[in-house]
Amino acid sequence: MILGIETSCDETAAGIVDSAGRMFANVVASQADIHARYGGIVPEVASRQHIRDISPVVRAALEDARLDWSDLDAIAVTNGPGLAGSLMVGVNYAKGAAAVTGKPLIGVNHLVGHVMAAFIRQPSDSNGSTHEAGIVTDTHLPLAEALHRIGGAPAMCLIVSGGHTELVLAERNGSSLSFQLVGETRDDAAGEAFDKAARAIGLPYPGGPEIQRAAENADDEVIPLPRAWIRGTHEFSFSGLKTAVLNRARAEGIYPRSESNRTADENKVANIAKAFQDSVVDVLVTKTISAAIEFDCSAIVLVGGVAANRPLRETMQSKSPLPVVTPPIPLCTDNGAMIARAGLERYQNGARDAYDLDVIPSLRIG
Ligand code: KG4
Ligand code: ZN
Repeated sequence: MILGIETSCDETAAGIVDSAGRMFANVVASQADIHARYGGIVPEVASRQHIRDISPVVRAALEDARLDWSDLDAIAVTNGPGLAGSLMVGVNYAKGAAAVTGKPLIGVNHLVGHVMAAFIRQPSDSNGSTHEAGIVTDTHLPLAEALHRIGGAPAMCLIVSGGHTELVLAERNGSSLSFQLVGETRDDAAGEAFDKAARAIGLPYPGGPEIQRAAENADDEVIPLPRAWIRGTHEFSFSGLKTAVLNRARAEGIYPRSESNRTADENKVANIAKAFQDSVVDVLVTKTISAAIEFDCSAIVLVGGVAANRPLRETMQSKSPLPVVTPPIPLCTDNGAMIARAGLERYQNGARDAYDLDVIPSLRIG
């Protein structure tokens, strides 16, 4: 039984998985409402809130799993990348718990955690798991083995979150996995672009779910917004799109907000939201598939907070010639179960960290 603790950003989370990767608890205390009034995350506010929430969240996870500290085999914790002050809360809590209980301490890369979320099973699964997206993988196995079963590694992972947009090649390397960074964003992350675009059209933080919801009410045909292809590379850019949203919002008279346009024309908001979402989805899907083909991959793994986006999931599924593995929506955004699942992988490969485990805010993958 592995406990996973996550405090890298604005979710205080704890999850528990067993040796087969089955999820027995997943408790998430989101700070979104606290940061919404500022229109984005305030790091100092985030770390203070983690301090308030960490003990009750871990206790709730143990209760949900009907476990005691003594039942655990290891304590895994995100030690990067993320906000330094926020990471410190989880890492120090995990060190304290490991020291008191005598359990092994395992540091987890948050981005690897997102990838591993695609390989979490429900407690009722006995062999293999049917993902919501309709792809069957034998997730009983360590990820390296699961990838092998999908049809032989490597897999192309698109990690899209509030802070990251990365294409990473996951390859089987004996019993463990190796990751190779293939491409990333040159400026804004996809989730960051959702959050900033939402702000420009008067929708609250976090912007991703709000844009998705608004876009559902758009006209069938909307005037498209630009796509930054950066051809010949596997890199992304979303800052130009953000500016294009701002310019259109201004032209349509819905930015900046004032007394006279406080109740902006909902149809205009919906149409801009859809044009923005179409552009992001088109670029992410097209570039991920072409990278997967170029690297001779057997599968695409779609993870991170933005992977919760329905049009992105559906378009990737329908356009990809390869199987697409993606976590159920609640496991796309930050959670503790994914850290436990990644911790399990490290634990099974013999990894143990010492009490000098440090936070690495700019930790990379690959
Ligand atoms: O992975 P995550 O929870 O935290 C980070 O590691 O950053 O990702 C959060 C990001 C936010 O930018 C949020 O707006 C975005 O994921 N997001 C979405 C959706 N749900 C969350 N973006 C688009 N569509 C969604 N349904
Ligand atoms: Zn994340």
